[in-house]
Amino acid sequence: MSGRLDGKVAVITGGASGIGRACAELFAREGADVLVSDIHDEKGAEAVAAVEALGRRAHYLHVDTTSEAANEAMAQAAVDELGRLDICVAAAGVSHASYDSGNTAPDEELIRRRYQQPEDGMLTNRPVEMWEKVIDVNLNGVMLTNRAAARQMMALGNGGAIINISSIAGKHPAVGSPEYCVSKAGVWMLTKSLALELAPYQIRVNAIGPGFIETPMTAVFRADEELSQRWLAMTPMGRFGYPEEIATTALFLASEEASFYSGQILHPDGGFFTE
Ligand SMILES: NC(=O)c1ccc[n+]([C@@H]2O[C@H](COP(=O)([O-])OP(=O)(O)OC[C@H]3O[C@@H](n4cnc5c(N)ncnc54)[C@H](O)[C@@H]3O)[C@@H](O)[C@H]2O)c1
Repeated sequence: MSGRLDGKVAVITGGASGIGRACAELFAREGADVLVSDIHDEKGAEAVAAVEALGRRAHYLHVDTTSEAANEAMAQAAVDELGRLDICVAAAGVSHASYDSGNTAPDEELIRRRYQQPEDGMLTNRPVEMWEKVIDVNLNGVMLTNRAAARQMMALGNGGAIINISSIAGKHPAVGSPEYCVSKAGVWMLTKSLALELAPYQIRVNAIGPGFIETPMTAVFRADEELSQRWLAMTPMGRFGYPEEIATTALFLASEEASFYSGQILHPDGGFFTE
């Protein structure tokens, strides 16, 4: 089947890399025009070129999702530049305060230490700013993106689909990253709460909780043999997932095939959650 998003316009935060980028390309293949937003402008331009190479219209906007004004401008730009707004994927995120695949180099040493010497990573041993940064991007940012998209969708009156990228970490705690787990659990509850509020407007709000996926975000971890094995041991299928496997889930949730889904979370996770 193809053309599942014919005539639709999608906004994708974190669209320059990994899961967001895979969504941008798959949505374009299925007929959507795409507004890509990110803080990494070079990679954003590459994503736009990839969408255009697939024959669709695309527009890039520098959006730090922690900014309310930037999110509002993004939702408006979808309408101004591409004519409408039907789908919003909130994929922008960070794994740690020290990691941001956008403009700053990850502090790989710090990330490794967090897992190899867990006491370094304990919440009791870290500055509170590290907690705040992750919550700000992963939870507050998603809320601001959802709110801006919902406002625009309500004004346009055509319904819509909002898809939030949570994580298995939203249900499964991990030593060394309580703020990540809390942010993703928050995204899951935000998704359910907004689903209720927006249902009368035919705006569906769903989440995806991926397992361990091969993206730049996990590169440092995957390069560490011991950590890699630990993650694969938790994944019955015995491999990492690909960003395209998350994009196909997002495509389903964005499409008419999911027309009666709202307030749900889907877990493409290689069998991580089997209970
Ligand atoms: N990779 C995994 O294993 C995995 C698993 C579960 C959930 N996730 C989630 O999926 C989403 C996408 O992650 P990914 O794996 O594709 O990582 P990625 O690092 O490849 O992509 C994340 C993108 O978000 C952007 N970003 C970061 N902070 C931002 C900000 N303040 N404003 C706008 N953009 C910002 C980055 O520049 C980057 O392009 C994240 O929310 C992540 O938490 C990833």
